[in-house]
Amino acid sequence: MCGIVGYTGYRDAFPVVVKGLKRLEYRGYDSAGIALHNQSLHVYKKMGKVADLEEHVVGKNISGKTGIGHTRWATHGEPSDRNAHPHLSASGKLAMIHNGIIENYNQLKQELLQKGYQFKSDTDTEVLLNFIDEIKENNHCSLEEAVRIALKRVTGAYVILLVEQDAPDTILAARKGSPLVIGVGKGEHFLGSDASPMLEYTKEVVYVNDYELAIIRPDELILKNLGNEVLTPYVQKLDIELAAIEKGGYDHFMLKEIFEQPQTIYDCLRGRLDAHKNKITLSGIEQYAKEICNANRIIMVACGTSWHAGLTAEYIFEECCRINVEVEYASEFRYRNPVIHPGDVIIAISQSGETADTLVAIENAKAKGAIILGVVNVVGSSIARISHAGAYTHAGPEIGVASTKAFTAQLAVLSMIALKIAQLKGTMPAERISALLSELEEIPGKVQQILSDTTGIESIAKKYATARDFLYLGRGYNFPVALEGALKLKEISYIHAEGYPAAEMKHGPIALVDDQLPVVFVATRDSYHEKVISNMQEIKARKGKVIAVVSEGDETAINLSESVMTVPVCDEMLAPLLTVVPLQLLAYYIGIARDCDVDKPRNLAKSVTVE
Ligand code: M6R
Repeated sequence: MCGIVGYTGYRDAFPVVVKGLKRLEYRGYDSAGIALHNQSLHVYKKMGKVADLEEHVVGKNISGKTGIGHTRWATHGEPSDRNAHPHLSASGKLAMIHNGIIENYNQLKQELLQKGYQFKSDTDTEVLLNFIDEIKENNHCSLEEAVRIALKRVTGAYVILLVEQDAPDTILAARKGSPLVIGVGKGEHFLGSDASPMLEYTKEVVYVNDYELAIIRPDELILKNLGNEVLTPYVQKLDIELAAIEKGGYDHFMLKEIFEQPQTIYDCLRGRLDAHKNKITLSGIEQYAKEICNANRIIMVACGTSWHAGLTAEYIFEECCRINVEVEYASEFRYRNPVIHPGDVIIAISQSGETADTLVAIENAKAKGAIILGVVNVVGSSIARISHAGAYTHAGPEIGVASTKAFTAQLAVLSMIALKIAQLKGTMPAERISALLSELEEIPGKVQQILSDTTGIESIAKKYATARDFLYLGRGYNFPVALEGALKLKEISYIHAEGYPAAEMKHGPIALVDDQLPVVFVATRDSYHEKVISNMQEIKARKGKVIAVVSEGDETAINLSESVMTVPVCDEMLAPLLTVVPLQLLAYYIGIARDCDVDKPRNLAKSVTVE
């Protein structure tokens, strides 16, 4: 949440920072702002998107070779010009941007108020900034020293970037709990919440760790810990191309990412799955194979769409590996003192690898002796680094706020882990494993088949786009898909939608059914099929509008439905990899029909780095 960008070097900072902010806008778009050092500090900020900031600065002095910029997802204080970052300290000598939450800001604010400080905004950021300013002025110390002292008093999460009136080419950065990447160029440095703002300038990056502080000048990067010890920056080479973070001819990132799925699932399987040899190679996970096989239980910890992937994996793991699986919302798990025994295996699932609740949940579990495996998309992210081992999903950068390709890649990885453990434990007949491996290999082609003609889904979307509510129903492996379909629709179109186990709807939600309610069934041919067909009859009898995702050629389901979306025939265990795709498209096209900004849905941010 909140995107931060910084630049110091020989180029004009404004275009570099603004372009970077546009790349990070998926993290928040309540306001945008920039501070430039040009003889003195110049701060420009505006409520709204980065484009509004660009308009706001027309005719103003935007020169300067050092700058920091921010795109905000509001926490403390409504979206407004005055709450936008950067903030200027009371002395006017410091400008700062911040991503995260300073939990004890009120206590610090009271101290500052007593000392006569006044505040122009409602933000926790301005409090921390003036707290630093006050320490600096009172102790006559350097900014670096003041930051170090201040951060020892701070609780919460932060990445902060500061520029100082008296240090024209220097940016000071510090991190705890929120992501920060430094791009290393020749005679220039870049900063970002992720690597996307710097990709066209450099592939060499340093991921800053918690409790580290960086002093950055065009030719110099000094990394220290809060104890003032100098650290050696670990420079890594990025393996991402610029094209991966651009729309590539699609109207929206979400649509591009839905259409990328045949490739991303293929990339995720490549080099890991060899169906001919009945072989799965997941080196990260294999290090812990013995522990996983002996585990009494596996706990999946995640949020949002990743949680739905975890829930699907519960069905898969229990079937394949006969291990008890629990699926936990990270935000609940981290606070409810869960019983964790040394040797318990936790699988943390996260696209961004930065979700604050998931991160803290696994930190707590790790401290209690659990083995942490990460199923993460962003290479080098915090969750990936804190995990003992794991498997990357290799879906490439996901920029659309609504997660799509990350979900199918997570399912592909989790399925491979489950099948690998089943092989090692001997908990599933070899022929069944072999059939599933072959099926898995065919998934990219089958997803491609679904995507080869989406006009039917587009028409269905137009037909129901004005509905007020939707109900999504599924059973077994397709129940989490119903939840995911409903989440996608809510996020993108702002239509109220609920996902439910199809049979459970008789225990309450059926009261909602009338001739206005579209009910989306995920009803592929599987062991629950007859039951789901009965559930469809029950909805139809109450005049609900039945829309269904069905297997090709399933005339029974087709005849019961007002509208159908077909998917190729597939083993029930892997069906979610297919059935979710029409639901992603349905949400997308309904969002478009309702004129919604599908890549930047209101109130949301891609990476939830605050709790
Ligand atoms: O990056 P993560 O996978 O940890 O993110 C988890 C959720 O915030 C995320 O899936 C969110 O629910 C998406 N907006 C869903 O489309």
